[in-house]
Amino acid sequence: MSLDRGGRVWHDWTMTHRLTLRFGALLTTLSFALAPFATQTAGAAVPAPVGATHGMVVSAHHLASDAGVAVLKDGGNAVDAAIAVAYALAVTFPEAGNLGGGGFMTVRWHDGREAFIDFRETAPGAATARLFQDASGHVIPGLSTRGYLAVGVPGTVAGLEMARARFGTLPRARLMREAIALARDGFVLDQGDADFLAEGAADFAKDPASAAIFLDHGAPWRPGERLVQTDLAGTLQAIADDGADAFYRGATMRRIVAASEAHGGILSPADFAAYRAVVRSPLDCDYRGFHIISAPPPSSGGVVVCEALAILQGYPLSQMGFHSAAEVHVLTEALRRAFHDRNLDLGDPAFVHPDIAALISPAYAAHLRAGIDPDRATPSLSLGGVGASPEGQNTTHFSIVDKDGNAVSLTYTLNDWFGARVMAPGTGVLLNDEMDDFSSKTGVPNQFGLVEGTNNAIAPGKRPLSSMTPTIVTRNGALVLVVGTPGGSHIPTAVLQVLLNLIDHGMTLTEAVDAPRIHEQWLPDTLYYEPYALSPDTMALLRAEGDRLTPMGYENQVAAILVGAPALGAKPVGGETLYGAIDPRLPTGSVAGW
Ligand code: GLY
Repeated sequence: MSLDRGGRVWHDWTMTHRLTLRFGALLTTLSFALAPFATQTAGAAVPAPVGATHGMVVSAHHLASDAGVAVLKDGGNAVDAAIAVAYALAVTFPEAGNLGGGGFMTVRWHDGREAFIDFRETAPGAATARLFQDASGHVIPGLSTRGYLAVGVPGTVAGLEMARARFGTLPRARLMREAIALARDGFVLDQGDADFLAEGAADFAKDPASAAIFLDHGAPWRPGERLVQTDLAGTLQAIADDGADAFYRGATMRRIVAASEAHGGILSPADFAAYRAVVRSPLDCDYRGFHIISAPPPSSGGVVVCEALAILQGYPLSQMGFHSAAEVHVLTEALRRAFHDRNLDLGDPAFVHPDIAALISPAYAAHLRAGIDPDRATPSLSLGGVGASPEGQNTTHFSIVDKDGNAVSLTYTLNDWFGARVMAPGTGVLLNDEMDDFSSKTGVPNQFGLVEGTNNAIAPGKRPLSSMTPTIVTRNGALVLVVGTPGGSHIPTAVLQVLLNLIDHGMTLTEAVDAPRIHEQWLPDTLYYEPYALSPDTMALLRAEGDRLTPMGYENQVAAILVGAPALGAKPVGGETLYGAIDPRLPTGSVAGW
């Protein structure tokens, strides 16, 4: 079955309609809250997951999902498809898809082998711990988020080439074919594409190379118009011809370094020559019979998810019920403690060496649980000391399963939407502002309020701490779930809640992805909630326990594939084996399969 244009999920409802559906899902889900593993789909008023049999791609842009499925149909494996999707997103989803950023790829082969490719950006060799401070030690606003000083040495091309060389089966030219065509010939902008591009318009206008592409004679592009990216097509073609050297040692590098030098940046040819992607072991943990395969440092994502799950394992969440005050209380307290440890202990493993195994161990979880008062919120600062940093939240994630059951979970980013909002002339490559993910100064909260320790201070060649959480779940050795999301510090909390919704609350995949979320990150000391996430009486109970509550917007766009059935423990529909869901919070994404 082909699920391209006809089968993909469109999210063009009005917001009111969407929220009504989500509220309906919540009510229906509550009636199933006592069933830890649903034996049937919950049947809430949300779309059923999209099914397929031979392979599936769920990504932030429908043309990238289609590119991945085309590679799967050509006999490529999940890693081949991931490379095609990543290059295609660099064209069709310039908000976060990229050549000029970095990310993480979690791979799980059908025979149980696992791998993790770290292609996180690195600080340039000339970077110092006080790069973003003035002579008096004050952080200079905006310096780590806009312009060339904000740019880390990009890792994406090195990471994709490493994945292809180690795990791919198809030639580079085949994997980049759709991306090159989409850049060279252009693609027609949907409403969602045009809306996203309009968000960057003011900054594009200040950067001539970006303005020449992402603005139409100075004005935002409109839906129905064709976005052609000739320079990007040239850069992609050079990579297709000559591999990563075309980016790191050739004309692309020279143009980026020249533009950086001309605009106050510190990138050098040596920084590009020295960049290496790294193969690591994923971070694994277990929860109620499920095996979680996630992101190790320099991401904090796996640690936060695993530490929180270890704490939550001691509570009967399914009996407490989805978003009851009791469930939200223990979820908040678990996240408060996991983020406290994240923010103080974690950083690039080449520079700092916290005991990760201890942080996610059952013994430590039991110790932390003993400090959780079932009736009182723990003041965050009572957990102890601090430092500081920034973290962008505009990233993108995709999930892939191929016909053999190999799985890829990949999250990559420019940090903010469109990164540092600068592009070296002639490259078509938007550059990241990943330097903002370092701690600019201990004790100063970042743009998202994250407060971190000195372990994430800037140093030459160091990778900034990330929250990206590309995750794969198995049970009894069989693939169950591929999941991830953008959202900065909200990434691990969203991945965690999708897991809880599936495992503890028996939701279908679509319900688990669509359900309203909460967020807690230790500091600021407040519990964030999406619209409809908490009822007024639940909020009253939480406030009585001492929680501060803050409404939040939609920070994540989960892309997920569930294997076997639309919900855990449910029956397959029509013999299909793969079930995909793209978050309705994202206007451009799709589930594509065959
Ligand atoms: N820049 C977002 C992250 O790495 O978590």
